[in-house]
Amino acid sequence: MNKPLTLAVLISGNGSNLQAIIDAIENGELHAEIKAVISNNREAYGLVRASKHGLHTWVIDHRDYSGREQFDHVLQHYIEQINPDFIVLAGFMRILGSAFIRAFEHRILNIHPSLLPDYKGLNTHRRVLDNGESEHGVSIHLVTAELDDGPVIAQERYLIEPGDDVTDLERKGHAIEHRMYPQVLSLLCDNRLTVEGGRLLYEKTPLEQPLRLLN
Ligand code: GRF
Repeated sequence: MNKPLTLAVLISGNGSNLQAIIDAIENGELHAEIKAVISNNREAYGLVRASKHGLHTWVIDHRDYSGREQFDHVLQHYIEQINPDFIVLAGFMRILGSAFIRAFEHRILNIHPSLLPDYKGLNTHRRVLDNGESEHGVSIHLVTAELDDGPVIAQERYLIEPGDDVTDLERKGHAIEHRMYPQVLSLLCDNRLTVEGGRLLYEKTPLEQPLRLLN
């Protein structure tokens, strides 16, 4: 068996994706080890979830730093000590600067509630509803210096039904996210998904389209 994939999970809030990753590890679906759960918000419920499972937690409050560079620098230093295989952004609501991203190039993943490249940024559910879209989705991508950019690894779509509101889309999106993130991490752990020179390879073949993992 491969050695476990080591992770640092960065959160800012509820941490339901963190919980899904913890559960997948505990039930044997994901051969990974969470080295640390890091939050920029000391009130994040995800910290409680992490503690319940005996995980190491660390709060780095962005308000304690005069600028993004200082915050990123301290965060980078801490993560370098842990040296995880991947940094997993799971509802982490801070934009990371290019120096930080370069330091961990091709090792940072993010989950975003839209069908990227559509609807980058915040409030995706509100915006798709306002635009009368009929479908919406979830993307997992490698993080690059541009916001919600970077090669898309996996994507799942779902229908927006008449009468759906933001809460409905959150519920539908989360149900997908909680299956998708552990699956993508599992592919990385098994080396079925690799990143070589910034290019994604699936089963050693360049990934031309985002993976569709759920059925
Ligand atoms: C998720 O919807 C994710 O797509 C977005 O932030 C949300 C985090 O939710 N990036 P949670 O904290 O994992 O519950």
